Amino acid sequence: MSASEVAIEFKDVGLTFPSAAGDAVVALDNVRCRFAPGKVTAIIGPSGCGKSTLLQIARGFLAPTRGSLRFFEISNAAGTVPRPAMSIVWQEFNLFPWLTVMENVTFGLELRGVPRAERDARAHKAISAVDLSGFESKYPRQLSGGMKQRVGIARALVMEPDVLLLDEPFGALDAQTRLVLQEQLASLVETSGTTAILVTHSIDEALLLADTIIVMTARPGRIAEEIDVALPRPRSMATTHDPNYAVLFDRIYGLLRDEVMRAMVIESGGQS
Ligand SMILES: Nc1ncnc2c1ncn2[C@@H]1O[C@H](COP(=O)(O)OP(=O)(O)OP(=O)(O)O)[C@@H](O)[C@H]1O
Ligand SMILES: [Mg+2]
Repeated sequence: MSASEVAIEFKDVGLTFPSAAGDAVVALDNVRCRFAPGKVTAIIGPSGCGKSTLLQIARGFLAPTRGSLRFFEISNAAGTVPRPAMSIVWQEFNLFPWLTVMENVTFGLELRGVPRAERDARAHKAISAVDLSGFESKYPRQLSGGMKQRVGIARALVMEPDVLLLDEPFGALDAQTRLVLQEQLASLVETSGTTAILVTHSIDEALLLADTIIVMTARPGRIAEEIDVALPRPRSMATTHDPNYAVLFDRIYGLLRDEVMRAMVIESGGQS
């Protein structure tokens, strides 16, 4: 990959959380990976292997204790910028309960000083992209879990980020709602060409959405393998019938199974 094909590069990144009790946690070790513009990269790995930590480092909320990050110049509406603009969608919807759907979605734009008329126009576009037109004046308590998460996605989209970071965005939803939202997100990323990094526990979600899947090892998190997902687009539930789907699924499951077993040993205090 040449520089113009890379949005963010992790160069031997490590992060150790200090602990007052003395037993520091090595969350990430020697992470080397690249995220390509216009592509969706899924990160999958056992619980506690450092996936959220990796996302927080990309976003700039956490600083690596070893190694460095490199951002490549990106051309967007603001011209050529040295660092891509990023928005995060969290697993727990994190909406402001006292604000309406419209106010939740426009909140970030208001902080940025975007004028009212532009805020409203952009919010209507983002709300319509997640099929929530007509719900602008509702409060989060009046919405189902799936709808709340669609507001979470609209709130990220409205910022028109160069890179969309998704941390288990559908983890808190029931299985059927999750399937529908996964398909909607697949079509959204296919039409918008957004660069996205998706953390997920679901192999199916990764195969539906991603161009590349990064499988991480049990803690300390390292990259176990990077897998290209050469499945045709547009993808939907029908993609699961593609003969390549089963091959990719088995390969990822094999890698994950070993790592999840290792994570269970580490969690129970044994040696890996
Ligand atoms: N602020 C913190 N202080 C100390 N340790 C932390 C902190 N945040 C995370 N950790 C530890 O770092 C490791 C990686 O955490 P992280 O949340 O990145 O894992 P994860 O892969 O996102 O897990 P999950 O799949 O359960 O969301 C875990 O062992 C976690 O307990
Ligand atoms: Mg996490």
